[in-house]
Amino acid sequence: MHRYAILLLLAPLIVAVVHARVTADDFIRLPSDKLDSVAVEDDSLGTRWAVLLAGSNGYWNYRHQADVCHAYQILKKGGVKDENIVVFMYDDIANNEENPRPGVIINSPDGDDVYHGVPKDYTGEDVTVDNFFAVLLGNKSAVKGGSGKVVSSGPNDHIFVYYTDHGGPGVLGMPTNPYMYANDLIEVLKKKHASGTYKSMVFYLEACESGSIFEGLLPEGLNIYATTASGPDENSWGTYCPGDYPSPPPEYDTCLGDLYSVAWMEDCDVHNLRTETIRQQYHLVKERTSNGNAYYGSHVMQYGDLQLSNDEVYLYLGANPKNQNFTFVDGKPSTSRSSSFSSKAVNQRDADLLHFWHKYRKAPEGSVRKMESAKQFAEAMSHRMHIDSSIKLVENLLFPMESKLLPPAPAGQPLVHDWDCLKTFVRSFETHCGSLSQYGMKHMRTIANFCNAGITKDQMTEASSQACPTFPSNSWSSLTNGFSS
Ligand SMILES: *[C@@H]1O[C@H](CO)[C@@H](O)[C@H](O)[C@H]1NC(C)=O
Ligand SMILES: *[C@@H]1O[C@H](CO)[C@@H](O)[C@H](O)[C@H]1NC(C)=O
Repeated sequence: MHRYAILLLLAPLIVAVVHARVTADDFIRLPSDKLDSVAVEDDSLGTRWAVLLAGSNGYWNYRHQADVCHAYQILKKGGVKDENIVVFMYDDIANNEENPRPGVIINSPDGDDVYHGVPKDYTGEDVTVDNFFAVLLGNKSAVKGGSGKVVSSGPNDHIFVYYTDHGGPGVLGMPTNPYMYANDLIEVLKKKHASGTYKSMVFYLEACESGSIFEGLLPEGLNIYATTASGPDENSWGTYCPGDYPSPPPEYDTCLGDLYSVAWMEDCDVHNLRTETIRQQYHLVKERTSNGNAYYGSHVMQYGDLQLSNDEVYLYLGANPKNQNFTFVDGKPSTSRSSSFSSKAVNQRDADLLHFWHKYRKAPEGSVRKMESAKQFAEAMSHRMHIDSSIKLVENLLFPMESKLLPPAPAGQPLVHDWDCLKTFVRSFETHCGSLSQYGMKHMRTIANFCNAGITKDQMTEASSQACPTFPSNSWSSLTNGFSS
């Protein structure tokens, strides 16, 4: 078999992909708000609620569940009660056979265990879009499986939502099918607002193209403030990855965190959240996630009711009393751990390849592990090529005269006007060509453009069946995986 040869041919390709990115200049404004925060009695604040969701599974996605566990520890130290924190995580990391420290999850190279104590509200196959929506809406009877814990919030309450995973234009991944589509999420947020069961909500979102989830979609007036790891057209980045600086302990073959996520959480770890505002944190996180404006960074965005960023972070996450002396002086942090930080990072979409590659590299010659990792790498690569070429083929069949990609939706506009069309077309494609999967979500914009250009369902089905005359029989087949829409 030529597996090893394939592997060696492809290695420079990943390196090229990882190094390809150069960010545009991005001027960082220092937070200039004056801080006159008056300590407010907890009673008048209502209850703090939090929903944390890691949308992936598999050891190569270690970082998403590590992020969520870390977020839980911040809330816990901040004094938020377990009964008010709902955690979604597949929970296949801590006791994964690949995990060098059984029962332990870390989110930074010298970090402590963040797994202990994390409530297992929705794990495994219960990590679904429907359950996430039911939990947010506080609809206990709509929940299937899991602990049944929901956000039973009232009109004075504050809600924090944190979601970390792979994504694509207009879509967020889930460890189960289907994935979460932006329009459905926005509908749920509107419904939650209409039910009058919160005062304000802060949504932190890490995923590739995460800006596309809110851009042109999240209206003002819902009392929701959202920040995203990247703009609508950008990747987001994994960090603390093998081979990078700073890198995980040598026994880890996987990234430990994500750049934007680690930026906001390590900020919370040290700052006094009673005095730091959401806006101050946004600027610090934006600066760190841009990563010196050089390589491996993305543009953190904000959407919705921006005036909510005048709130102290404390209102949503509580505050660790240990950090009470870490305050801001004239709007700047008194010591600057985060802003001096610069690291290498790995494109979310290539972190799985990086894992298989390091696993392969480290495995002893001739071992089962060596063969297995080579197989995993080759399968992932061939699936990518299959999806890329199939999408290209469908596009050429639909637009034989066009030489270039259709132009994307203009800035500030949603990706697609007819979301049902997008979902139907994804289904047509997956029926004939197999699951888009984590990697293939990147093509969502191309499929959205088919809808925007007025392609009909019959045309899409016909083009997909021509592009993929034989149904893929591998593990990426939608027969085994189901549909992402
Ligand atoms: C809760 O979910 C159930 C089942 O999906 C649905 O019938 C019901 O209308 C929902 N309740 C509210 C208040 O939305
Ligand atoms: C903060 O500073 C005050 C005054 O110096 C001190 O009494 C207190 O113990 C400090 N708090 C913490 C958590 O270090």
